[in-house]
Amino acid sequence: MSQPTIESILQENRTFAPSAEFSAQAAVKSFDEYKALYDRAAADPVAFWEALAKTELHWFKPWTQALDWSNPPFAKWFVNGKTNLSYNCLDRHLESQGDKPAIIWEGEPGDSVTLTYRELHQQVCQFANVLKKMGVQKGDRVGIYMPMIPEAAVAMLACARIGAVHGVVFGGFSAEALRDRLVDAAAKVVITADGGWRKDAIVPLKPAVDAAIANGQTQVTTVIVAKRTAQEVTMVEGRDHWWHDLAATVNSDCPAAELDAEDNLFVLYTSGSTGKPKGVVHTTGGYNLYAHMTCKWIFDLQANDVFWCTADVGWITGHSYVVYGPLSNGATSVMYEGAPRPSNPGAFWDVIDKHKVSIFYTAPTAIRAFIKMGDDHPKSRDLSSLRLLGTVGEPINPEAWMWYHTVIGKERCPIVDTWWQTETGGIMITPLPGAIPTKPGSATLPFPGILADVVDMDGNSVPANEGGYLAVRHPWPGMMRTVYGDDDRFRKTYWEHIAPVDGKYLYFAGDGARRDEDGYFWVMGRVDDVINVAGHRLGTMEIESALVSHPAVAEAAVVGKPDDLKGEEIVAFVTLEGTYTASDELMKELKKHVVGEIGAIARPGEIRFADALPKTRSGKIMRRLLRALAAGQEVSGDTSTLEDMSVLEKLRG
Ligand code: WT7
Repeated sequence: MSQPTIESILQENRTFAPSAEFSAQAAVKSFDEYKALYDRAAADPVAFWEALAKTELHWFKPWTQALDWSNPPFAKWFVNGKTNLSYNCLDRHLESQGDKPAIIWEGEPGDSVTLTYRELHQQVCQFANVLKKMGVQKGDRVGIYMPMIPEAAVAMLACARIGAVHGVVFGGFSAEALRDRLVDAAAKVVITADGGWRKDAIVPLKPAVDAAIANGQTQVTTVIVAKRTAQEVTMVEGRDHWWHDLAATVNSDCPAAELDAEDNLFVLYTSGSTGKPKGVVHTTGGYNLYAHMTCKWIFDLQANDVFWCTADVGWITGHSYVVYGPLSNGATSVMYEGAPRPSNPGAFWDVIDKHKVSIFYTAPTAIRAFIKMGDDHPKSRDLSSLRLLGTVGEPINPEAWMWYHTVIGKERCPIVDTWWQTETGGIMITPLPGAIPTKPGSATLPFPGILADVVDMDGNSVPANEGGYLAVRHPWPGMMRTVYGDDDRFRKTYWEHIAPVDGKYLYFAGDGARRDEDGYFWVMGRVDDVINVAGHRLGTMEIESALVSHPAVAEAAVVGKPDDLKGEEIVAFVTLEGTYTASDELMKELKKHVVGEIGAIARPGEIRFADALPKTRSGKIMRRLLRALAAGQEVSGDTSTLEDMSVLEKLRG
């Protein structure tokens, strides 16, 4: 390996086995059972997935080939098979459990709605008819920019029902970020709401849609607006329609379209190290199977579970574990609009208490925030309904893990630390809670059928306890199929970093990792120029472009700095155009500018003005040095490629 990825400093030796009671009722009951399952799947992954696809999903027509990998890295799963994700999530449950709650929704102001499978099915069919009436056809892209309200799930399922390709954009993104995504996907229809409730305030959404469409770059001709917050919004005649008005004009009879397993299901944008965000493409059959199986075994879904994944539907976690995974399994999924806030720091614990949540899945950044808010909040609520906990988004520090285990799980609930990505469609490395003993800070072992490994730049496995690159050696059904409109970028980003040997392609995840002597994976973070803020990836490049688009900024370099709460904080080094001088005002303005360009999630924590940035002789910014400076560490390692040493001295200042 040419360069060590990340030094592994974490030494964690505690292990926690599930209770005999938990294991006895679990889908996978022992380590031996997991091992047998894993080995069988590894020996023939295609046969493993094929058998599950037969028993776990409904198919209108069977496939003729389970995996076509003749043109790597472009995989096709369940070739020629016909299915429908919305059918698998709704129709097939109606007879046996039509009256079971599918979605329990809690609004931030305390209003709540429960939709049974029958009711959700009715709403999805009705809204699918609305989409058809507005001219949406199979293959058309539909933008969804919504708060966490049931209509967001209805809109997604309605698209899936008719074969329209949804592109959900997180409601916290700015109008500019929304525009970029709508343009890239060439969406003609956008579904939004007047606004949503978050932290005791209305987050307006419709005005951002108006601004995104305003300069004529998008192809949007129709906007459908759900009424949530009821503040005044502008409706453009002929273009904008209220959801409820349209719904009143159609019936709810809409059979699920018989879609091809490889028909595009959705595009979801995620940050990369260079250029604009990538539209990650997932397709119908493989994604459905993968979200279904991972949700079933990792969260050990039982008939009466109430499953709450706190992610927004704007992220992949919300796609796979708020909407599609739980519903495909016929489970009850909780959707929460709000967030813990000064007026109620215990808001999450109220939701668990009120709706008797049994499985709770959240992010380490949230857990660290809970710790900071104090134990009184969870301790003053009844959390006895909980039986299983999960985390996702970034490595969890063992201290936060222990707090989660003791204060929330009362040392009774297994914790599944789940490693995966937008690109993988579902969880890849994780404990199966009844079978795999956990170690705080480790995502433990690969899901059956996932041939994950830690490798060097040539694709060779590295020995135990050595750092390397996290990679996957065999296709899996939930894998992304391409970058929307850019096959080349897909190949280069994920499949050519580690050169294929003998035609064998390895999926390169972009994370550094090591495996310990028990084979457990310890994910150490990104090896590219991507930082992880509050469990979500942000490309440094995008933030730099946003800064440089301000007239005062000549050059910008953005790095991550470890942060107690957010995992990483954004630190921007900025040089100014000649006529501008550094000031607190300008700093504030630049932060605001980035928020306007990308959204609050990208707000730099710190901006440092500099005369020059440290560069190599070929002009490449040496981020390694900036990272050390930002973290207040000594700059160590090789600086011989630095063009001008005095730059570093000045930055150290
Ligand atoms: C990146 C993917 C998958 C949904 C949330 C984020 C990091 C994710 C873990 C974990 C260590 C993790 C990785 C990964 N990550 N889960 N359990 N332990 N790191 O999705 O925005 O696509 O980000 O998040 O660095 O590559 P995403």
